[in-house]
Parts: sequence; structure tokens; C-alpha cells
Amino acid sequence: MIETNQPNPLREGLSTRALPQPCAIVIFGATGDLTHRKLIPALYNIAADGEMPPAVAVIGFARRPKTDEEFRKEMEEATRKFSRQTVRAEIWDGFAKSLFYHQSEFQDAAGYKSLAERLDKLDEESGTRGNRLFYFAASPEQFETIIQHLKEAGLNKAREGSWARVILEKPFGTDLASARELNRVVEGAFSEGQTYRIDHFLGKETAQNILVLRFANAIFEPLWNTRYIDHVQITAAETLGVENRAGYYEGAGALRDMVQNHLLQLLCLVGMDPPTDLQADSIRDEKVKVVRSLRRFAPEEVRTEVVRGQYAAGAISGKPVAAYREEKGVDPKSKTETYVALRILVDNWRWADVPIYVRVGKRLPKSGTEISVHFKRAPQVLFNRESQVIEQNVLAIRIQPDEGVSLRMQAKVPGTSFRIESVKMDFHYGTSFGKASPEAYERLLLDAMAGDPTLFARRDEVEQAWAFIDPIEEAWAEKESAPKLSTYPAGSWGPAEADELMARDGRSWRRL
Ligand code: BG6
Repeated sequence: MIETNQPNPLREGLSTRALPQPCAIVIFGATGDLTHRKLIPALYNIAADGEMPPAVAVIGFARRPKTDEEFRKEMEEATRKFSRQTVRAEIWDGFAKSLFYHQSEFQDAAGYKSLAERLDKLDEESGTRGNRLFYFAASPEQFETIIQHLKEAGLNKAREGSWARVILEKPFGTDLASARELNRVVEGAFSEGQTYRIDHFLGKETAQNILVLRFANAIFEPLWNTRYIDHVQITAAETLGVENRAGYYEGAGALRDMVQNHLLQLLCLVGMDPPTDLQADSIRDEKVKVVRSLRRFAPEEVRTEVVRGQYAAGAISGKPVAAYREEKGVDPKSKTETYVALRILVDNWRWADVPIYVRVGKRLPKSGTEISVHFKRAPQVLFNRESQVIEQNVLAIRIQPDEGVSLRMQAKVPGTSFRIESVKMDFHYGTSFGKASPEAYERLLLDAMAGDPTLFARRDEVEQAWAFIDPIEEAWAEKESAPKLSTYPAGSWGPAEADELMARDGRSWRRL
């Protein structure tokens, strides 16, 4: 055996990932929902897990007057409410010392000048080494203003040996033209290498596991094509309604909110060819080829291949819930869809004639995100020659909750007669690894601090995804000839038309 001095990266505690570096993280929109629910709790959990680089300062940048102390208190309350792990006082106290508040209007140049001075001071006092991560958690209309001011204050450029990066939250545009425009604005200040477009689904543990499942096991790749796969289903179901987000959601709808980004990203991970290596761009090159191969819908196809729906009043877990149109801030005549189902075709050799059915909806009976790969049936000889219909093998990847993978196959029922039934081989993350997965935002913040853009969307991916979505939105926006907006009772699995979309092909949605 050849002995090497190389550490074995698979031994517990060692990792192959780039190291997150000391930095100052400036959050624009620090008093908003995302900061409270996700960002600060994620940063706290990183600290609690001992993964934080030696020096990190978090500066909340927002309009309302507030002292550092007040900001810390508010963030503590939010973290206690939303953190994955219980907040421990000794860890919180240490972490809170690195939280600061910077009060300024987004359009006030002086606010950015004083920010630059404050960051320089923090470099000296806390050792953040001139590295800056600007997190855009403000509303998208503010992005351009913030970018221009950062540029004017010289904050888009790092000094020698340091870095400046920008993380952009979705929505990244509302169509291809606006996404291009936004990319142009960003590019005026930050290079593509400095730009991290976040899609939090990519940070989910099981989404990352798709690549491992497909390419670290020799048994799947030979079957992963039109010869053996009958179809694929991708479902993202939520019991939640629009909550307090009508202001945003009314203009977005399920297609822009979930399909353009999260679900197409999952589709790419399932559909891509093996990359040549694990470099960020090698993986993203393969993903973008999938989006480019998605067959674009002609206007008349939108009617037959896409179903849109909106929830009416109903009940979730026995509790009555209001119709979408009755929710706070929603237009009583709103045409915004809260459900979409699509039949997508990918025009390449691997996926020719394999439909990929995607559905997403709010106020469905259960929350869960899952990808299922349905293999072709065994030939009708031997066991299923006569009365017995043998079911398809199904590989189901549960993205959340109860993360894991299961494989459905056929087995003989014990006994003297010859009966065949479906059984399931099941892998659960929780039981196999015995530890909770980090939240997507934890992983993504660490990656951005480490300079690893693999799990962030590249410019061309985002634009190609819009090029696929635009024709659907355009057909829906038609005045006279727009395809119908169906309704479904809250607590049901969506409009009947979505079942018909499947039934037409002799298929049905998998039960979650
Ligand atoms: C967000 C959408 O991006 O993702 C929300 O804007 C949706 O509408 C959410 O509820 C779902 O994310 P998760 O991680 O809770 O499944």
C-alpha cells in the first residue's frame, strides 16, 4: 500500500470545501422579514456550530433609526423564534458583539460614505481584513440605487489581497428583459465572479445530494435516460397561503415565485449531464444546457401543457382557511396563480420523449418537496403476463421534510400463491447520519464567505430560465384569449385540470 501524508477528506471533521474567510457582512434591508427569519438565525447557527471564520462583523443597513443595542435585542428575539437550534446564552452573547446597525436611507450618499469608514474601522478593530460581503435583502426596486451608491463610495472594489462580493436575493427580475437590465446594472459595479445570485433551494442538503446520488453511484447513470425512464415528477407543495406577502406575491404568482428559480434548478440537477469536474462553472455549464434545451411553449400550447389555479376557501388540517382573494392585501378580483402544473419536454438525446411534470402550489393538504423518477415497466412477459399489472419502479428523492431517498420495487408476497406487490427501500437522512442538516442559508452564506459560487445561479442560467417562463406569462396576460385560471379549494391537491393533464398521458400524480 502506498502511504501518503494527505489527510483523508472523508474522515469526520475534515472537509474538502474552501474555507470561509473573515469578513464584514452588510445586510441591506436589515429590518425586513428575510433578515429576521433566515439570515441572522442562519449566522447564529453557523456560530453555534463553530463554523464561523475567526472574525466576522454583521452590519444591518436600514432606514429606521436604531442603536446597535436595539438591533441586537431585536435580532435575539427573532433568532429565538426562528433558529433551528435553541439559542444558548453564552453563544448568543459572543455572537451579538459582532452585530452592528447602520442607519441610512438607501438613496443617501453620505450613508455609504460613513459605511465605508465604519468598515475600515472594523477591519482594524475586529480583523475583518478588508473583505466585504454585501447582502441585498431589500426589495428589488432598491437594488439599482444601492449598487450605484456602493460604486460611488468605492465599496465595489476591494483593496489588494481582499475581496468584495454581492449576494442578490430573488426575485431576480420579473421577465427576461428586466433580468437582463438588472444584470447590466450589477455588472456596472460588480464582475460576474463577485456576484452571487441566491436560490435557497440549491443550499438544501438533499438538492446537493442529487449530484452525489447520480454520479457517486454507478448504478443510476446507465439508466438515467429516455430508454429506461418513463417520466419524472417534481412537486413543491405548501400548506401555507400567501401570508403577509401579498404586496410581492400579487405581482409574482407561483410561476415566477417558485418555478422560474427553485423548480427549474431542481430540474437541472436531475436532468444535467455529468460535469467534467466539480468546478463551479463546470457544474453550471451542464445545468444551463438543460434550461436551454427546455422546449419553449407556443401560445396555444400554454393552454394544453400548463395549468394555473388559485385557491378558494377551504380547510387545512381541519381548520377553515380563507380564499386567496380574501387574503390581506390581495385584489378581490386577483388573477394571480397560487398553483401551476406544467408538462415540460427537454429536447436533447438523454430526455427525448420523457415528460417532466412539475407542480407547485400553496394551500395544498401537505407540505413537501419531492422529485420522483418513474422507470418504464418491466416487459409484459412472465409475471405480469395476465391479470397482474406490475407497477413502475420509482426512485423518489425527498427534498423536504424527512429528507431521504426511496426506491419502489416489486416483491413476491410471502405464501404459497404467486402474488407480487410493491415494496419500498428507504433511506432517511435523520436515521442514517443522526444529525440535523443545516438550513440552506447557512450553507450558502458560508459558501459566499469562502468564495465558492457553485450553489449560486449564474447570469446565463437566470436569463435562460426567464426565456422559458416568458411565453407562458405572455399567453396568460392576453386580454381576450388567455387560458383559464382554475380554482381549487384550499386543502385539496390543486385544480382538476392538473389531474387531467396527467390522465391524458395515462399517468397520475404521485401521492406525497
Ligand atoms: C420562497 C418563495 O422562495 O420559497 C415562497 O418566495 C416559498 O413563496 C418558499 O414559500 C419555500 O421555501 P422553503 O425553503 O420554505 O421550502
